[in-house]
Amino acid sequence: MSDLDKINSIFNAKIDSVKTKEDLQNIKTEFFGKNGKITQQFKTLGSLEANDRKDFASNLNKVKDNLSNQIEKKFLEIENAEINDKLKNEKVDVTLPVRPFQRGKIHPVSQVIDEISSIFSEIGFSVAEGPDVETEYNNFTALNTPEDHPARDMHDTFYLEKNKKLLLRTHTSPVQIRAMLSGKPPFKIIVPGRTYRCDSDQTHAPMFHQLEGLHIDKSITMGHLKGCLDYFIKEFFEVKNVKMRFRPSHFPFTEPSAEVDIGYRIENEKIVIGEGNKWLEVLGCGMVHPNVLKNAKVNPNKYRGFAFGMGIDRLAMLKYGINDLRAFFETDYRWLNHFGFDPLDVPTNYRGLSK
Ligand code: DAH
Repeated sequence: MSDLDKINSIFNAKIDSVKTKEDLQNIKTEFFGKNGKITQQFKTLGSLEANDRKDFASNLNKVKDNLSNQIEKKFLEIENAEINDKLKNEKVDVTLPVRPFQRGKIHPVSQVIDEISSIFSEIGFSVAEGPDVETEYNNFTALNTPEDHPARDMHDTFYLEKNKKLLLRTHTSPVQIRAMLSGKPPFKIIVPGRTYRCDSDQTHAPMFHQLEGLHIDKSITMGHLKGCLDYFIKEFFEVKNVKMRFRPSHFPFTEPSAEVDIGYRIENEKIVIGEGNKWLEVLGCGMVHPNVLKNAKVNPNKYRGFAFGMGIDRLAMLKYGINDLRAFFETDYRWLNHFGFDPLDVPTNYRGLSK
């Protein structure tokens, strides 16, 4: 029996009993490793006569190919067996009840944003967004608030550079400009988002949330604005009647402008929204100023409309009886567990917003 035949039969005897990847690796080393049986045969080539060398090399290569093919085949066999084994043993019975587990909670601000989006989507508003880092132009100038306007001081702006061209938006109103510049009228959008002002106490945080609304079409009036807000407030607070008043106000980007108050009373140390002799300011609004339309390339002789802006955090505090705004941003798990919402209970108008 030649050396190659011997190697072949040793290999054949071993390969059949291989069960694991580890066994296979051992065989690989025994035959193809640094001092492996096949490797050693290759080392003898140099000492052979030219003629013998040719024949031997071709035989050796055949044996080598044969062995490596078998190793490869075995490897796939073991892999397959492992997978089948897993499939057989790691079964999940999807009909079993789930174990109680901590799912985490939805933050009241996220919940309220979902509720508001659902309410407005019912009457045809879609949700638009804009960046937190805004240009001074979109945040102020385009909104009819020129450089020397006193409203700029009231906003306690975080400027991002010395020349004051970039800032953290102080309100969601700049998205009105972005939305109008990037499309054609009519526009009917709401814009929830983060806003920033250099201010912090029990009712103010440097980062807070606002919701902007904008409806531009050919014959929109203040009556539409009133109807829209009346519907929204009732839906949001989940009450049938809401006492509401429009108080004349001033915003550079609307003319006329108004602030909206809703009636409330305190009963058993709890706030009851919608009725009573006290007033609570909830939002600012008005008819979009023609200068704003012009700056956003909308023809004010053809189109008009209303806009409004409100503080989301404040609405969340009112609805869910949270009295310190700062708690929203403290990431206290116990607080979130108490005030948070079930992630599987997505708010919709027809299923109920918060119940
Ligand atoms: N941007 C205003 C603020 O932050 C709120 C506001 C008032 C928005 C009137 C409006 C509006 O769109 O019409 O105080």
